[in-house]
Amino acid sequence: MQTSRRNFMRIAGGSAILLAASSCTSGPGYPDPRLPWRSAETEVDPMRFALAHALLAPNPHNRQPWMVDLRSPTKAVLYCDPAKDIPHTDPFDRQITIGLGCFLELFTMAAATQGYRAELELFPEGSDQVTLDNRPIAKLELHLDDNIQSDPLFAQVFARRTNRNVYTEQKPNSADLNQIIGSNNNIRTGYAISDAKINPLRALAAEAARIEFETPRTYMESVHLMRIGSHEIAANPDGISLEGPAMGLLKKIGIVTREKLADPTSSAFKQGLKQYQQAAESAAAFVWIITPDNSREQQIAAGRAYIRQNLAATELGLSMHPLSQALQEYPEMAEMLEQVHDLTNSSGQRLQMFARLGYAKAKQPAPRFPLSAKIISHGKT
Ligand SMILES: Cc1cc2nc3c(=O)[nH]c(=O)nc-3n(C[C@H](O)[C@H](O)[C@H](O)COP(=O)(O)O)c2cc1C
Repeated sequence: MQTSRRNFMRIAGGSAILLAASSCTSGPGYPDPRLPWRSAETEVDPMRFALAHALLAPNPHNRQPWMVDLRSPTKAVLYCDPAKDIPHTDPFDRQITIGLGCFLELFTMAAATQGYRAELELFPEGSDQVTLDNRPIAKLELHLDDNIQSDPLFAQVFARRTNRNVYTEQKPNSADLNQIIGSNNNIRTGYAISDAKINPLRALAAEAARIEFETPRTYMESVHLMRIGSHEIAANPDGISLEGPAMGLLKKIGIVTREKLADPTSSAFKQGLKQYQQAAESAAAFVWIITPDNSREQQIAAGRAYIRQNLAATELGLSMHPLSQALQEYPEMAEMLEQVHDLTNSSGQRLQMFARLGYAKAKQPAPRFPLSAKIISHGKT
């Protein structure tokens, strides 16, 4: 029963991805795909304010899987859009759930700055370990609370990024790393900073990237989600943005096209893999998050911890970039998954997030769908 539902979700998700990819060239749906980064603060209704900040959360492949049933200015229900899954690289929706955890932490922080305590009831109708189904992720309620304090990390929400640039050789100091991993004190975290520890992790991250790129079904999942140039990004402000001043031209003259990117013999493919590996190998440090088990609740907790680490790094002027390839659950990656658990001393538990840290050139914010695109119904009581 569960398996057949999972298969159905995969098929549904897969065709949604294809539809999204084929609709890429169909006109400017969202002419300013970064507007949500500027408009969140203008929301006056407390629930919309908290949600408009929450949707700036990091999330795998920028799928933005959240869907919100807005019930009132203080009540809503969060769902996961099954069409936003990434079935080959995230076969059990583990990463998608972590992204929803990031969303819920930002939601809670944004509510607190408005004087509201966010009450979250996770998985009120239960959950499935194999797939996120159509049951709610969380019931959200806001309560005015005179004792609520705003969180200092909230000041970093608009500056936070996932930075995929090559990092400089400058190492963060261990006080900074302790501050980052200590930004959440009830979850197990770790870091590596010495050459002896980071070199094997750099090599592992680069090798895991090679496996994902050279496994056709996992790589093609990314290709379908690539948005090449500003027109495609405006049509679908999600997925993997390939942009820059020359991108429109490179696409026009046929150097960077979806077909070229899909061809492992093309220079576009080779360049893409090389860039990802060079980025991984430039890690100045690594940080990670481990949970005692792999339940949905622990995946949410890992997401809540990850966004706090990302915000703490931002406060310290450090860039951060998750490298999830080795953590993924498919047969070709099994050996890497075991190795990354060994190297982070997390064997027997679940390594949920693994990210590089360092100093890098700044990066612009990633595109987002606006809140209006994520609301599934209005006015119910
Ligand atoms: C669970 C999870 C896994 C992620 N894994 C990767 C990854 O392997 N490689 C990568 O480049 N980005 C990864 N990211 C970062 C997302 O791609 C990024 O959050 C998204 O594109 C939105 O960009 P932003 O964080 O700059 O807002 C991951 C994020 C999350 C929450």
